[in-house]
Amino acid sequence: MATRHFLTLLDLSQDEMRYLIQRAITIKNELKVQGPLYAPLRNRTLAMIFEKSSTRTRVSFETAMAHFGGHALFLSPRDTQLGRGEPIADTARVLSEMVDAVMIRTFSHPGLEAYAAASSVPVINALTDDYHPCQLLADVMTWTELRGGVAGRTAVWIGDGNNMCHSWINAARQFDFHLRICCPEGYEPRQDILEAAGDRVVILRDPAEAVTDADLITTDVWASMGQEEEQAKREADFTGLQVTEALLDRAKADALFLHCLPAHRGEEISETLLDDPRAVVWQEAGNRLHAQKALIEFLLLGRVEG
Ligand code: CP
Ligand code: NVA
Repeated sequence: MATRHFLTLLDLSQDEMRYLIQRAITIKNELKVQGPLYAPLRNRTLAMIFEKSSTRTRVSFETAMAHFGGHALFLSPRDTQLGRGEPIADTARVLSEMVDAVMIRTFSHPGLEAYAAASSVPVINALTDDYHPCQLLADVMTWTELRGGVAGRTAVWIGDGNNMCHSWINAARQFDFHLRICCPEGYEPRQDILEAAGDRVVILRDPAEAVTDADLITTDVWASMGQEEEQAKREADFTGLQVTEALLDRAKADALFLHCLPAHRGEEISETLLDDPRAVVWQEAGNRLHAQKALIEFLLLGRVEG
């Protein structure tokens, strides 16, 4: 089988994406019933390169590999040769000789693509400045579990046109739902990513209009990792875009709220939003484990029926 990478949601076909979501739900239900007895990756290893901080992504990948009978290696640039300037293509070739897959969280998406081009084992994007596709697997899984399907429905992104927003746009393409993006002037998603999605994705400026009759609302921090020095300016520029319970009241009665986390209460969300029953962020975070198990299994073993 040719090496498959997962750098964006567009690396898999629509059919494969739907398979992954259903497979993740099956894996989750099996874990609930029998515990982590399914161990298809005995003695396999996943290298995890983290150039940015992480809680959910690291713990979910590491736990996924442990449950599957394999092993995950945490690699930080601080204590590998990557931090001392060893070329990424050299690192990719070396790791390809030893591990079965590589997961990378880094800044530059073109840098990740360069790594993948030199890797003969699957490479997974665990967040770049441009995309966060693993999070969208968990998000679409959560939406599917709770509402039975996403095709034809309407999601609303409120906030920065950032890596998460770009992956929501790609998810709208792959899973065939509508996406309204409500962002301030100057914080729009990348034009090429937006245009490729066609008219299923629109930009609106008024949050009240954007959420009206929507099925799902989501947001993210106003300053992402690497943008810490812009925090004060962004807080000013994003005024009026806080997601509150009252804003959610304008959406459908059974609307859901998602947030990739970590969240900043009192900034992009109200102090109490995560306590609202419409907020399903803990289930969403937990689903990172199951969605990534389905992804790793697919990349290393192909489709598993049943
Ligand atoms: N949502 C997410 O990717 O969280 P971490 O940064 O904690 O991995
Ligand atoms: N947009 C955020 C997502 C964190 C999971 C960031 O890149 O920091």
